[in-house]
Amino acid sequence: MYQLPAVHRGIAERLICLHDEIKGERSLASLSRIAVALYDGTSDLLKTFIHSSDGDNPVDGATAQLADCVSLKQLASTGARRIVNDLAPAAHEGREFARRLYDAGYRSSYTVPIVNKGTFYGFLFFNSFETGFFQPAVVQRLRPYAELISLAVMRELDTVRMMQAAVKVIRSVSSARDEETGSHLARMARYARLIATKMPAHYGLTDEFVEFLFQFCPLHDVGKIAVPDAILLKPGRLTEDEFEQMKKHVDKGLEIIDLMMRDFGLKSMPYLDVLRNIVAYHHESLDGSGYPFRLKGDQIPIESRIAAVADVFDALTSERPYKKAWTNDEAMQLLRQNAGTKFDADCVDILLSNKGEIEQIQARFAETVFD
Ligand code: C2E
Ligand code: SIN
Ligand code: SIN
Ligand code: FE
Ligand code: FE
Repeated sequence: MYQLPAVHRGIAERLICLHDEIKGERSLASLSRIAVALYDGTSDLLKTFIHSSDGDNPVDGATAQLADCVSLKQLASTGARRIVNDLAPAAHEGREFARRLYDAGYRSSYTVPIVNKGTFYGFLFFNSFETGFFQPAVVQRLRPYAELISLAVMRELDTVRMMQAAVKVIRSVSSARDEETGSHLARMARYARLIATKMPAHYGLTDEFVEFLFQFCPLHDVGKIAVPDAILLKPGRLTEDEFEQMKKHVDKGLEIIDLMMRDFGLKSMPYLDVLRNIVAYHHESLDGSGYPFRLKGDQIPIESRIAAVADVFDALTSERPYKKAWTNDEAMQLLRQNAGTKFDADCVDILLSNKGEIEQIQARFAETVFD
């Protein structure tokens, strides 16, 4: 089983500890599940993020369009909390999340929207196997815990958003924006998420890991802002010497990330190692022919292999100053030919077998959309 290194465990692990502590209170012993789902405003998507559940997580890797969840949508806009002391009616109505929770044995739920200064971050869900668990006294006792978890989630996301905002500012004053558009980055991050959510279970990729991978992918080429325009925007093929200079975008990227962490007074950020691995190793190849570190096989972290496949697929199917856009079939053929030698075979397989979702991403983030 592929074990995520300890540094990968962020707020998810703290939630599990807190859940244990909460259950230590006699009146809250039957609180069997705490979960957080995050909201992605660009695609109106609600995505499972972290959970602590007695038993299996019935909604692992689930996403839903918020517009389809009528009552949740209302909570998001009003900030109101919702108590459902009997999940049976919603489950029998066929509501996806409710049905899955019900099938896993949960009978009641308490839902708290995570909202601050007009920004809606997502939902905090509490569940119990008991019908009627969320009586006023219980809800009262849960209040400080709900505050605490909401604050922790917002703090974690704000750090990541600050990093993204800083990179956006840097990019906006550099030529890297002409070479790689916002829509390239949006597509690439979504291909990476598509791959990550469908990776075989033995990789042990959690919803939390997938979310940070998705958030960090657009930063993979941040180092290109340090590459001279004459090279970055050259309309033709690069000379050997020019390509050597281009390769430095990896080291430059790492320097920039580390500088930003220092200058923002951030000693750590959740999943910082995932961000660094994406920047450092997105041009490595399984056979050791990549750059700059010439890592081989398992030496290349899974996030870097996922980012590499997503990046190359989008680079091939996009127009660049130096090349025309390839068709999806041409790009897939190149990936297939190099699967297992250069690219991770599982990642390539997933991309090749999800053409429909790829086309949806391409339609949604077409080249004319700028951020
Ligand atoms: P990029 O344009 O984002 O491309 C990312 C990666 O996609 C490339 O990494 C390569 O692995 C793959 N790729 C892109 N286009 C092609 C292609 O036409 N054929 C094949 N087989 N693979 C392709 P790579 O090669 O390490 O390049 C890194 C970056 O260097 C590129 O990022 C691009 O910004 C720049 N670059 C590479 N070759 C040229 C070139 O001939 N002219 C110019 N102006 N820039 C280049
Ligand atoms: C809703 O609450 O509006 C739908 C959520 C669900 O699928 O349970
Ligand atoms: C979740 O727990 O992730 C969603 C469950 C719900 O809609 O109540
Ligand atoms: Fe790159
Ligand atoms: Fe790229």
